[in-house]
Amino acid sequence: MIIDIYTLFPEFFQGPFTSSIIARAQKAQLVDIHIHNIRDAAIDRHKTCDDSPYGGGAGMVLKAEPVFETVEQFYTGGPIIFLAPQGKTFNQKIAEQLSNESRLSFICGHYEGVDERIIQHLATEVISLGDFVLTGGEPAVAVVADAVIRLIPGVLGNETSTADESHTSGLLEYPQYTRPAVFREWAVPAELLSGSHAEIFRWRRRQSLRNTLIRRPDMFTMWRQVNSPLTKEDTKILAELQNEGLIVPDGIL
Ligand SMILES: C[S@@+](CC[C@H](N)C(=O)[O-])C[C@H]1O[C@@H](n2cnc3c(N)ncnc32)[C@H](O)[C@@H]1O
Repeated sequence: MIIDIYTLFPEFFQGPFTSSIIARAQKAQLVDIHIHNIRDAAIDRHKTCDDSPYGGGAGMVLKAEPVFETVEQFYTGGPIIFLAPQGKTFNQKIAEQLSNESRLSFICGHYEGVDERIIQHLATEVISLGDFVLTGGEPAVAVVADAVIRLIPGVLGNETSTADESHTSGLLEYPQYTRPAVFREWAVPAELLSGSHAEIFRWRRRQSLRNTLIRRPDMFTMWRQVNSPLTKEDTKILAELQNEGLIVPDGIL
């Protein structure tokens, strides 16, 4: 995959892609990240890329010309994603869709925002990281690119490791432990030390259902809607959780 990032602050990206899995993915040529400086396309002496908003108001607006020119210079296809708090909220499903592309372009906004013509006539998608406002699109691109890159086949090495993850199966993941078996007075659950594959599987499934019910009832309801009818084992686990006092919403069992 090739990733093009269009930004006024290329130095921001000296950090996010230089360590661990993402650095290895680049070394292995599974992803090639190009950072393009929008300011290089500014035509005046001062390399101006922002201007005051028509109609007045606080702050400056990123101009359309240098952004269009920089993207058009390098663009050869694929989605052009603008990061903005007004976009659709990023999630694992969007990450999976984007990981199937061979080329992705990201435009980072800055200042009070960008000239609307960039959104209307250049971007093909607008994605938000969440309901909050950042100073610029750079941290948002770093997050989105990270979530996408780790889904490219070969990047994690073990492809099955994403299957059970939170937000992939529709349920949150079960808790994980590693050695030692007892740390201070806290012991690893006996099921995980049992050596029985069936027992471990059941314990993990139970924890997954329990965690999702407690922490993300909204996700649980969605998962339930697409998992109809429930398997016998899930029905049994949910009945057990209910008997233990956990509130299982009406109609789930
Ligand atoms: C200060 S923000 C502009 C916010 C804009 N005035 C508004 O109210 O929608 C500057 C830039 O940061 C980026 N940004 C801010 N919050 C974001 C979010 N939640 N998700 C993605 N990008 C964001 C966008 O690229 C935006 O153009």
